Amino acid sequence: MAHEPIKVSFIFGTRPEAIKVAPVIQHLTTCDDFQISTILTGQHREMLDQVVRVFDIPITHNLDVMRPSQTLSDLTATLCQRIGAVLTDDRPDCVIVQGDTTSCYVGALTAHYERIHIAHLEAGLRTRDKWQPFPEEMNRRMVASLADFHFAPTEGAKQNLLAENIQSDRIWVTGNSGIDALRIISDREDIAPVPELSNALDQCRKTLIAVTTHRRENAPFMSGIAAAIYEILEADPDLSVIFPVHLSPKVRDAVVPILEDADRCHLIEPLAYDQFVLLLKRCDIILTDSGGVQEEAPYLGKPVLVMRRVTERPEAIDAGTVKLVGDAQANIFDQTLSLLHNPEEREKMSHAINPYGDGQTSRRVAEILINHAETLRNPPQTSPTHLS
Ligand code: UD1
Ligand code: UDP
Repeated sequence: MAHEPIKVSFIFGTRPEAIKVAPVIQHLTTCDDFQISTILTGQHREMLDQVVRVFDIPITHNLDVMRPSQTLSDLTATLCQRIGAVLTDDRPDCVIVQGDTTSCYVGALTAHYERIHIAHLEAGLRTRDKWQPFPEEMNRRMVASLADFHFAPTEGAKQNLLAENIQSDRIWVTGNSGIDALRIISDREDIAPVPELSNALDQCRKTLIAVTTHRRENAPFMSGIAAAIYEILEADPDLSVIFPVHLSPKVRDAVVPILEDADRCHLIEPLAYDQFVLLLKRCDIILTDSGGVQEEAPYLGKPVLVMRRVTERPEAIDAGTVKLVGDAQANIFDQTLSLLHNPEEREKMSHAINPYGDGQTSRRVAEILINHAETLRNPPQTSPTHLS
């Protein structure tokens, strides 16, 4: 007798989660073994819609929780009620959450309350500092203690989970599905820059730096980051900056007043993912505090200076393509200028590596879930291989 498909529900709500679940959704949709639904929390709005459009992600539920500048507590409470209500009605066999956002954490928590299996993509990233990144480091630790399937991007991430006593037969090193997304988009030859990006690119001088920043723990340093970029531009007339500014008011209020009139600085709206990949391919150096960009740039062979004190992604640092420059204005200025004026160092940092995956994560995730179909078809507390 043919088995019922495994009912899988993806819960996600921000730009980076959408980028990283998109290829998994695409792949599982092509397998007869799965019946897919999506719960879009709407923690982000415009920046999430951009990804939904690029990957044509089907939306089953849109919970529309974004409110300008809402507190983490308000966001958490709203997510809990709205995701909980959907899961009570839909009763999937398994939810898939990704990463470390509040949507991810509350998705896992509500699935646990509803006694639904939980699979965690990008499991095991750690800084071991509960405040950095905030609140993501605690989100991912809490998700690890709730999840049944831990899909670790790297061997290092697996070791982090083992150190927290997650059982080894619950952990699979799958690579990061973000690299699946990057492979899909960077292989496409039909993507042309939109006018806002092409105008900025046309005006660029000899060297181009792409900048992004948004981390909550960087909020007190955001003006300093913007001031460092201003000084770097002043110090090097051959340099241009393209900076798609995150929609968070914490970022905009700090960055725009300092950089809006700066020479050769193009502050633009957040780019759709396919456009942002064009920018990454075209630039010479990336200055960022983003997690996802730290994974994408090494794959594309671009040097990255990370404006954070710590990172949960040590692999590209070890390989020499990523360097931590901290959050202090003077350090960001010194280290960026020093890299700009050291072509040998830039060349050394520019080799393509892909420690974060080979673009086959989605296929591996599908195979693992199919191999555990019997477990998934039973509620967690009664399923044959469930561990307490
Ligand atoms: C969130 C995630 C962070 C992730 C980042 C990716 C949490 C706690 N934080 O950051 O892990 O790295 O997203 O970008 O889950 N806004 C809009 N439109 C949008 C998106 C945001 O207007 O499409 C504005 C709103 O005022 C919103 C604010 O930006 O309140 C901040 O959004 P939020 O999801 O809270 O961002 P972060 O927590 O900074
Ligand atoms: N990104 C994008 N448009 C932009 C800036 C970034 O599509 O204007 C993509 C980027 O390629 C990466 C993801 O957004 O895949 C990173 O998101 P963000 O930095 O907001 O979050 P983080 O990865 O730090 O959680």
